[in-house]
Amino acid sequence: MSILEARSVSRSFVSRRGLLDLVMRRPPLALKAVRGVDLSVQRGETLGIVGESGCGKSTLARLMVGLYPCTEGDVALKGASMQGPDPEGRIQMVFQDPYSSLNPRMTIGALLSEAITRYRPKTTRADCAREVAAGLQKVGLPADVAEKYPYALSGGQRQRASIARALCPRPEILVADEPVSALDASVQANIINLFEQLKKNDGITIVFISHDMQVIAHLCDRVAVMYLGEVVELQETASLFEAPLHPYTKGLIAAVPRIDRTQRERMPMDGEMPDPFNLPDGCRFAGRCPLAEEKCNQPQVLRAVRGGMVRCWKAPIE
Ligand SMILES: Nc1ncnc2c1ncn2[C@@H]1O[C@H](COP(=O)(O)OP(=O)(O)OP(=O)(O)O)[C@@H](O)[C@H]1O
Ligand SMILES: [Mg+2]
Repeated sequence: MSILEARSVSRSFVSRRGLLDLVMRRPPLALKAVRGVDLSVQRGETLGIVGESGCGKSTLARLMVGLYPCTEGDVALKGASMQGPDPEGRIQMVFQDPYSSLNPRMTIGALLSEAITRYRPKTTRADCAREVAAGLQKVGLPADVAEKYPYALSGGQRQRASIARALCPRPEILVADEPVSALDASVQANIINLFEQLKKNDGITIVFISHDMQVIAHLCDRVAVMYLGEVVELQETASLFEAPLHPYTKGLIAAVPRIDRTQRERMPMDGEMPDPFNLPDGCRFAGRCPLAEEKCNQPQVLRAVRGGMVRCWKAPIE
């Protein structure tokens, strides 16, 4: 059974309105950041979510942890529909920016203690201190970090501290939204290794969001590819990289820099994303797709193929 499930989840935002819109009395526009996403996360797996900036990854992450209500559909934790963040803290989130996600007025020890007592208020002070020390050790931080304030830590240490805080409530699921993209390249690998250890040693279920195909390839068991709010492909990681089904996935993979490819052979994706306020009815990728033809003007459904899913009528069925 899936541990966490997005069931036909959509989320709309009313556009932020500029002064000109007000003067011109233009009606507010609604933007569907996530549309009709069905995704089921299996216990113990690391599910990657990948896609370009603005495709709805962070919105989906917030929907999955209950930080945003769904406009349509719902999210189920172990089969039960969630109404807001889980009161037992079974799902925790790690944010992209460890600078803004840690309260600067609290020591790391106090931040971690709060994350423990929020869900287990009867924890004694002594037990709390022990758990904080164990939590820091688990993420590879020295014990004296507990006394420090976030500003005294490096970017990598802060992200370790945010991961420790997310682990304090003993979650079954960790949703990590681009947890390494704000960090220096040299530090990124260490944090990725930390996620790998959590996966291996703790069997924790992870939803790992990234726009970096290499990070996804390294860490994830399965990958969902998003384009303009929709899942366009879902496959096991090995088959996704060996035989991508959607032309968009092929483009993402081809755009990955590799030492054995010259600049010329690398194929960055052409074209721009369509205006999210004015989306085509048919395939939303058609305007950028090298294979597009007449039939792509019709709406595309997510089809089951070869152990995965793809939203492209041209993808081969096996
Ligand atoms: N609170 C909000 N109010 C209005 N629009 C929003 C809000 N949050 C997101 N959006 C819009 O929804 C779309 C999806 O945004 P989202 O942040 O989920 O994308 P993303 O894939 O996480 O992008 P990135 O890779 O840049 O983090 C974008 O067009 C964005 O402008
Ligand atoms: Mg984001």
